[in-house]
Amino acid sequence: MRPDPDCRLCGLWENRMNMVMPSGDPDSRVALVGEGPGSAEDEAGIPFVGRSGKTLMRILAEAGVDRSELLITNAVKCRPPGNRDPKTSEMEACRPFLEHELSKCEIVVGLGRSACRDLLGFSVNMSEVANRDMTLRIGNRDVIFIPTFHPAACAYGKAAQDGLRITAERIARELRR
Ligand code: URA
Repeated sequence: MRPDPDCRLCGLWENRMNMVMPSGDPDSRVALVGEGPGSAEDEAGIPFVGRSGKTLMRILAEAGVDRSELLITNAVKCRPPGNRDPKTSEMEACRPFLEHELSKCEIVVGLGRSACRDLLGFSVNMSEVANRDMTLRIGNRDVIFIPTFHPAACAYGKAAQDGLRITAERIARELRR
């Protein structure tokens, strides 16, 4: 199930240039889920192509992973104005599309607090839970859920960088299984 090209299920349609749909391999066993598109993504219509995306792709490349090997998507498909966090109501409106995108994945990596909150249904403290396996119910299946730092957090400290490196190495191992 994909959103209608003129989707107006929440208010984010008012400011969008493009709806940002998943990129990479839709059949990958590993999915990366961010919060929502930023301005570069809104312009390109592709997730994680701006500054955070470049940081993320560099860390993945260092672990030997290319973005084409993963399903890369966001909790909401349209840019929240001013790069604010998506609201719960906006995430709920987009949730059926996200569940459909994730229907073939075995491992879902949540990037940042707000994507993790949307997926898990509760808030987490990233420094406590990063890279700890959890279980996530998607439709009628349980998948492995790995919470981790948002790449934007790498600008503020080494903990996020180290945490994301651990995630990238785990993703590399999972893809080579
Ligand atoms: N941050 C996100 O969470 N998603 C993107 O696509 C880009 C930046």
